[in-house]
Parts: sequence; structure tokens; C-alpha cells
Amino acid sequence: MEKLVVKGPTPLKGEVTISGAKNAAVAILPATLLIDGVCTIENLPNISDIKISCTILEKLGAKITWNSPHSITIDTSHITTTKAPLDLTSKFRASYYLIGAMLSRKGEIEVGMPGGCKLGARPIDQHIKGFELLGANVTVEKGRIYAKAKKLKGCPIYMDIVSVGATINVMLSAVLAEGTTIIDNAAKEPHIVDVANFLNTMGADIRGAGTDVIKINGVKKLEGNATYSVVPDQIEAGTFMLAAVATRGDLLIKNCITKHLESVTAKIIEIGGNVEDNGDSIRVWCNKRPNRATIKTLPYPGFPTDLQPQMGVVLSLANGTSTINESIWDSRFQYTEELNKMGAKITAHGKTAFFEGVKKLTGAPVYSSDLRAGAALVIAGTAAEGETEIYNLEHIDRGYENIEEKFRKIGAKIERVTE
Ligand code: UD1
Repeated sequence: MEKLVVKGPTPLKGEVTISGAKNAAVAILPATLLIDGVCTIENLPNISDIKISCTILEKLGAKITWNSPHSITIDTSHITTTKAPLDLTSKFRASYYLIGAMLSRKGEIEVGMPGGCKLGARPIDQHIKGFELLGANVTVEKGRIYAKAKKLKGCPIYMDIVSVGATINVMLSAVLAEGTTIIDNAAKEPHIVDVANFLNTMGADIRGAGTDVIKINGVKKLEGNATYSVVPDQIEAGTFMLAAVATRGDLLIKNCITKHLESVTAKIIEIGGNVEDNGDSIRVWCNKRPNRATIKTLPYPGFPTDLQPQMGVVLSLANGTSTINESIWDSRFQYTEELNKMGAKITAHGKTAFFEGVKKLTGAPVYSSDLRAGAALVIAGTAAEGETEIYNLEHIDRGYENIEEKFRKIGAKIERVTE
């Protein structure tokens, strides 16, 4: 078993470079199934979710050449099966993108029920509604999803809930459909724009991504023969911004799109931190105890739920009592029990948590319950006095590239230890 051992407190200082966005990359890889040919994808994060995605694509018949740990050339000319490996597809959330992509490409797909972080109920009814409106039949039984369509036909689709996954999935299934699809009440996250940009680079006709109405004019074929670079990871950048505040450090975060981070920047300034926005890099520093705040997570451009646990660490050390209302997921406060083991004073009731700020955290053994909770514990361990041991690293490794190396380079005393 592996654990991270962090010795603190350390104010994080220096420069950190952000990797490609996990949530864009895990959609762009299945989107290559729409191409009847070859394309190259660059700036892929070197994380386990990407390795699993590539293995699944290879099992479907794709040929992948690794140009570097961050770049692949993928040939999807010969897709040989419509059965995706159940064990692998059940391991992570984004395997649901295989449904939209394979419905478009082959008119059929069988996948395992998507896995991923346990954040409460994670229904996929809006995905299924979209596929069915486009003309597919979808059945869910025995832990599998079967989807089949003789022909997909574009149509208007209103999303009852703003969903990142459903917006991207419907986009994937509409790209090669006959006629025009209009997604109303679409999600607007940066990775939705990135997937649309990728598909348009390969020959699709998608307009309006990044607004709440996306129009997709179906095309006959995606040619590929192009190179695409994945957008920088907004959540990884936000993680380091909040790490700078929590540890009272000073970080220059490079290779990010600061426009994607405005909600985080606004909150950091509100609680007394400092931000210098350089467009493609951002400097964040804080030399005093942060002030209390009220946070509500919302779809983009609101405060991202995927930065809620990291912000929770900052607020557990703030001056006064803060409130976080988690409006996206039912069960995203599991990390607060771990922070309480480190001396935090947090009370969580359902989707609301109260953070009575303490002056310091103290190292303890803690368990990462999901990906972003894991990142929050690394920040907490760096800010805390003494030694913190963090377990369940498989969650962190799914979404953060070389987390300990990146933290070590900015001063953290952190080691990965095999027990
Ligand atoms: C994606 C991100 C995840 C992030 C989340 C919200 C990926 C791989 N994961 O997850 O990191 O936390 O966006 O920003 O990109 N919902 C339904 N029915 C559906 C779909 C969603 O009721 O068919 C609900 C969910 O239960 C949730 C809300 O809609 O309450 C938002 O979920 P959604 O945006 O779909 O999240 P994911 O795409 O799964």
C-alpha cells in the first residue's frame, strides 16, 4: 500500500506548471472514435484515467502510438467491436462518453455502468434522454448500458439539469447525425468548449459551446488528420491557487487560462489573499490569516464543486466561521471528517457545512475519499504542523499528474512511501 507522508507547515513558494485538463482529455479521447482516420492529441495529463481511456480505445480496435508521456497519435480507422470492457469502463466516470461516440460511429455500444468518485447519486437520465430523442434505444440492466440506433436524427434537446457529462455526450452523438441538434440549457464549462473545438478541428460543425445553447449541424464524416492540444486544467490551477492561500505562500501558476478561474480569484481576494492575473499565468500569495467566507458551488462560471474541498481547507484555517453550500453533489463533505482529525472544527449537515476557523491544523493519518478530497488533504498536510499520512492514493492519481513532485518543487516536504 502506498501513502503520502507530508511534513509541515511549509509556505509553498515558487513556480508550478499546470497539466492538460483531465475532464477535457477524458472526453476528447472517446471523441476520437468519431474520426475515420488518424489524429494527434497533445498536452494530455499523465494520469491513470488517461491510461485507462487509452486501454479501452485499444480494446475497441484503435491503434495508439505514444509520442511522449503527454502526446498520442491515434488511428481509429478500424473499430472492431462494440463491446467495451466492463471491468475498465466501470472504473471511471467518463466511460459514459463511449456511448455518445460509439452510437455516432457504429450505431451500437455496450459499456459497464460508469464508476468514478462517490459523491452521492450520479444519475445519467439526461444523457439517456438525449440519446433517445436522437433516435437511440437505451437499456440499463445487470450493471451494463446497451445503446443502439439505426439512424441518429438531429432535434432540439432541452436539458432538465445543467450537466457537463450530458452536454458533451449529446454533442458526441449529434456530430454525425442527420440534420441539426440544438442543446438548450447546456453546461458551459471550459472543457465543453475544448471538446467542441477538438471536434470542429476534425471537421464537425458545432457552434455556441460555452453558452447555454449549442447548435450542432450534423456532418457526414470527420476526417481527422490534425493535431489538437488539450486546454490547461482549470481545477489543477485552482488547487494550487488555494494551496498558496492555505499555506500562506506565494505561487506563480503557469500555463493556465485565468479567465476560467475568475470565481476562485474573486473569492481569494474577498478573503484577503492577493492575485496577479497575467492572462496565461496567475500569481497568488497570502501573508495573513484569511477571512471567513460564504461559498455556494454552482455550474460554471460559478464556484466549481471540484474546488470545494480545497477551499474547505482554506476556510478551516480562516478567521471566523464560514459556510459552504454544495449545490451539485449530495455527498461531498466526507473530507471534513478527515480535516477534523487534524484539528479543524467543521460541522457538515447534508449539503451545507460550517467551518469554525482554527489557528492551526496538526498532522494525522487521513484517508482520501475521492479525487478532490485527496488534493485537499495534500494541501492540509502541507499547512499543518507535524506529519500527515495520506492513504487511498488511487483517487489522487486518477486526476493529478505527479502531485508529490509538483508540491515538492514548490517547497513541500512530501514523500510517497510504500508500506
Ligand atoms: C463532471 C465532472 C466532475 C464535476 C461535475 C460538476 C467529468 C468527468 N467530471 O461530472 O468532476 O464534479 O462535472 O462540475 O467531467 N445529473 C442528473 N442527471 C444526469 C446528469 C447529471 O441529475 O443525467 C445531476 C448530477 O447528479 C449532479 C448535476 O447534475 O447533481 C451535475 O452533474 P454533471 O455536470 O453531469 O457531472 P458529471 O458530468 O458527472
